[in-house]
Amino acid sequence: MSNEKGWGMRAFDWFEERLPIVSFIDHSVGSKYPAPNNLNYFWNFGSLAGFMLVVLMMTGIVLAMSYTPHVDHAFESVERIMRDVNSGWLIRYLHANGGSFFFIVVLIHIFRGMYYGSYKAPREVLWWLGIVIYLLMMATAFMGYVLPWGQMSFWGATVITNLFSAVPIVGDEIVTLLWGGFSVDNPTLNRFFALHYLLPFAIVGVVVLHIWALHIPGSNNPMGIEVTANDKIPFHPYYTSKDVFGLGVFLLFYFTVVFWFPNAMGHPDNYIPANPLQTPAHIVPEWYFLPFYAILRSIDDKLTGVILMFGSILILFVVPWLDTSRVRSANFRPIFKVLFWIFLLDCFVLGWCGSQLPEGLPLILTRVGTFWYFFHFLVLLPVVGWIETPRPLPSSISTPVIASPAE
Ligand code: HEM
Repeated sequence: MSNEKGWGMRAFDWFEERLPIVSFIDHSVGSKYPAPNNLNYFWNFGSLAGFMLVVLMMTGIVLAMSYTPHVDHAFESVERIMRDVNSGWLIRYLHANGGSFFFIVVLIHIFRGMYYGSYKAPREVLWWLGIVIYLLMMATAFMGYVLPWGQMSFWGATVITNLFSAVPIVGDEIVTLLWGGFSVDNPTLNRFFALHYLLPFAIVGVVVLHIWALHIPGSNNPMGIEVTANDKIPFHPYYTSKDVFGLGVFLLFYFTVVFWFPNAMGHPDNYIPANPLQTPAHIVPEWYFLPFYAILRSIDDKLTGVILMFGSILILFVVPWLDTSRVRSANFRPIFKVLFWIFLLDCFVLGWCGSQLPEGLPLILTRVGTFWYFFHFLVLLPVVGWIETPRPLPSSISTPVIASPAE
């Protein structure tokens, strides 16, 4: 039998010699990319985030084909998408709920990084790029929510853009620039539409850098220790199949909401057309902004509130240095592990506070929660790193497995 290559393989080789795209993929997420053999399901969330980014861009482009960015037509154009455009309701619900699920996935991805110390050397730049993505995501989501031009769109935009007036000296100029005039109006809607369309492409660019920065040191792992050659397995087929399984499970949740509870995460007031003459009783942002909204309102002074709110995200950039422990994984850090769960609870409490009126118990909790948020990063992280005695680290991933007696 001849082992001559068929014409198909020869054509493939010809192309591959000129543009080695298949071997590039194989080295990036394929059989030539070695990954630690102990990654758990929390390592699925990066690929899930990538999946959601693609879903949002594809559904968004289709929505844009029938959407009209004009204050007189935006609300009705969305209703038309829901009622008259073929499968328009599905595309819109996939997109609107997709935003929420994108945040759920990315937040789990971030908290995973915090728990396993993935932000520590040598992955600081990877972490920074993640925060840049998170900031871009928030800007994109905020502008997207304005597009249906419902009551919450309009009043949310008014409240949040007005925050910039707190900036000394140039505050009012910034607000005028954001609005494109002297109130939230048609120019505002136009520029928000343009930017909402543009920013996801910027996110794609930063994601490419993010993955690039990941491939330099390779993935961290649940033990947080350096990985020896013996403890690595090829990404494909092991993690590609695990990612596909995780995607299936994730889709069950996503589709359950899209098909059965498509408005559960939205606000009913956004089904009322925007009315600049009627302020809703209670203006609330989308759920993923609630903790930051709470921090903003934790203090009476507007400028201090704005500084605290932006500071609560920007502080993430210096976390790799605020955390003074050299041990990465919380599994080996008894005190840090407890603090991690308290911090997570604190974020949920702040989220609840952000949905309430800032008075009485919610206001007290907001203030305690905001204090704890910064106390965690600025005081506890450095101090615990110094005083904590971590559990002994195994010398390799396989050591504890080989050492433990057979059961
Ligand atoms: C569009 C959003 C994002 C996408 C598509 C994305 C994608 C990925 C992928 C595919 C991985 C490798 C698989 C994994 O470890 O889960 C990864 C790792 C990582 N990402 Fe992201 N990411 C996003 C946002 C973020 C954000 C917002 C942060 C932090 C603020 C972040 C921080 C990290 C870190 C620290 C790692 C390394 C984890 C480790 O090896 O332990 N990412 N990302």
